[in-house]
Amino acid sequence: MKPEQARERIALLTRELNHHNRLYYVEANPQISDQAFDILLKELEALEQMFPDFASKNSPTTRVGGDITKKFETVAHEFPMLSLSNTYSEEEIQDWVQRITKAGLEDLEFVCELKYDGVALGIRYEHGQLVRAITRGDGEKGEDITANVRTIKTVPLILSGNYPEKFEIRGEVIMPISAFNQLNEDRELAGEDRFANPRNTAAGTLKLQDSSVVAGRGLDTFLYGVYGHNLSFESHFEAVTSATAWGFKTPPENLGYITCCKSLEGVMDFIHYWDEQRNCLPFEIDGVVIKVNSFEHQRKLGFTAKSPRWATSFKFKTQQVVSELLSVDFQVGRTGAVTPVANLSPVQLGGTMVKRASLHNADQIEKLDLYVGDFVYVEKGGEIIPKIVGLDLNQRPKSARKLIFITACPECNTSLVRKEGEAQHFCPNEKYCPPQVVGKIQHFVSRKAMNIDGLGEETVVQLYEAGLIRNVADLYSLSYDSLVALERMADKSVENLLKGVQNSKNIPFERVLFALGIRYVGETVAKRLAQSFKTIEALKKATLEELLDVHEIGERIAQSVLEFFQNSDQCAMVELLQGQGLCFEMQQKVLKSEVLVGKSIVVSGVFERVSREEIKELIELHGGKNASSVSAKTDFLLAGEGMGPAKLKKATDLGVRLLNENEFLTLIGYGK
Ligand code: IVH
Repeated sequence: MKPEQARERIALLTRELNHHNRLYYVEANPQISDQAFDILLKELEALEQMFPDFASKNSPTTRVGGDITKKFETVAHEFPMLSLSNTYSEEEIQDWVQRITKAGLEDLEFVCELKYDGVALGIRYEHGQLVRAITRGDGEKGEDITANVRTIKTVPLILSGNYPEKFEIRGEVIMPISAFNQLNEDRELAGEDRFANPRNTAAGTLKLQDSSVVAGRGLDTFLYGVYGHNLSFESHFEAVTSATAWGFKTPPENLGYITCCKSLEGVMDFIHYWDEQRNCLPFEIDGVVIKVNSFEHQRKLGFTAKSPRWATSFKFKTQQVVSELLSVDFQVGRTGAVTPVANLSPVQLGGTMVKRASLHNADQIEKLDLYVGDFVYVEKGGEIIPKIVGLDLNQRPKSARKLIFITACPECNTSLVRKEGEAQHFCPNEKYCPPQVVGKIQHFVSRKAMNIDGLGEETVVQLYEAGLIRNVADLYSLSYDSLVALERMADKSVENLLKGVQNSKNIPFERVLFALGIRYVGETVAKRLAQSFKTIEALKKATLEELLDVHEIGERIAQSVLEFFQNSDQCAMVELLQGQGLCFEMQQKVLKSEVLVGKSIVVSGVFERVSREEIKELIELHGGKNASSVSAKTDFLLAGEGMGPAKLKKATDLGVRLLNENEFLTLIGYGK
């Protein structure tokens, strides 16, 4: 393709992809299939690799992340980021509304909005392009988290419509409850600790160094303010609703997330409505915000030292109820972790009837000093299951008995174990304990793992109970006859299931590795391991040191991988799956050039222009080999910032040539 053609095609693809991204994420109205979107994206990626000079900083390809931020730079806010006065008292809201009403402002209007429980963010746009995203910080200065914010699908990278030349838009980054629960489920599966609530998780996610991890976390935004010089709007409501047309996700009026009203009555109606309904929202709010609409009125009312006089917020009280602890069940999860779950006398909490509450682990029971028969305080947090936060000792009946943690697995009677320093009890009988066996198979077939069509969680239970499967390898010897004999298994479902099983043999190595359910090996870790070791054979042979050398793989994960391959049952299972034709090595890639053929290269430290993963990929695409440690056979040490001093010394001693990032990129013709 000629450069001129490429430039045009890149521009067209960029426009198209931005348009469809917006239809999908902001308007929830997709017009092309995910597959068609991916084809366009892949084409753009390929063109940008061939013509890096034409790739825009705000290209839709940057959404997948990959940029690593070593240190978040501190930058000053152009407009200070103030906070809001707040109250839990309705009376104070009434006083505030009345004070403003008496200020003699003509045609006074209030805008009522939700108070999103997330992280405040300011995003700067110039000439329709995203320039910078900054956290609130201390209100005067914040941190530049642009690389991470770029991966949030509802943040437009390039604007459309009639937007101001230069402005800043402010809003809240939130983690929807569904994304939060999904993330926790994934973490639990990988044996990692659960996150406490969506807000802290959103905050922590925005400060991750690797933006590709941020991209996978499902963050979302709601925008609530436009700031700039000489903006052409007269009111807050007009500014916010106009931003919708530029491509932002702003609160929808039709769902009642934002409304204009003229009186105290309207304000109170909004407060009461959302206090009742807040549990029906797909994200968390902690109150509502009331703002004077007209910019002219806002100017007249002005500010106190900390917050505007023209806005205030009403915070909802955390919903809490008292209920009787009737009994405790001990549930065994797919990793063998035992979780105590409280059975409560049914009680109404935030619009739902609560009968069960999570107790997390033995430590928590100990800390609360719980007795069966106690009256406990129950709160609703971000998780689906509410939690017990305390108890009323005065109400403890004489008949109450101290809650004792079980010592044997309720499912298979094996003695439970608790490793030193860990909070959770485990059932060690991974091979035969039914919920563990079923859980492992469910994980194996799940969407992000082998994605076996026609085999949902319940079908796995059904097949297990019918004695057709005892491990994941059994899936590959299921027969039509044995399946069709089962209840609710029509011809079509059986065919679908068998086809799904066959198709799973094409699933790439990294996902097969994830599907194996090695403790602490989540999706991202599996990807890293697959990319580094290439084949299951190499991974099996990896030493602790080699595992630790993989980016972001620490002691805990490395040990777990070692243990997995030291276990002869697990190795036998892998062999069975290999025999069934599953993919246990990375697919060969077509080389882009041969400049690095025969060269052994060690990559160390962090890089400015491309991520470490990308560098490793580039080495291979140009024929080189990634090595994990420096030896006499090493041709180059590709040195990034923060490289380990031991590596550097060894390389210097052995006379290995050092390359910096730019030298390397020039060497492979990647351009400036
Ligand atoms: S307006 C000068 N609107 O609440 C007023 N803030 O202390 C600027 N928040 O840090 C804020 N939802 O992160 C505004 N609809 C909303 C909001 C909202 C959540 C957060 C914001 C700010 C804090 C107020």
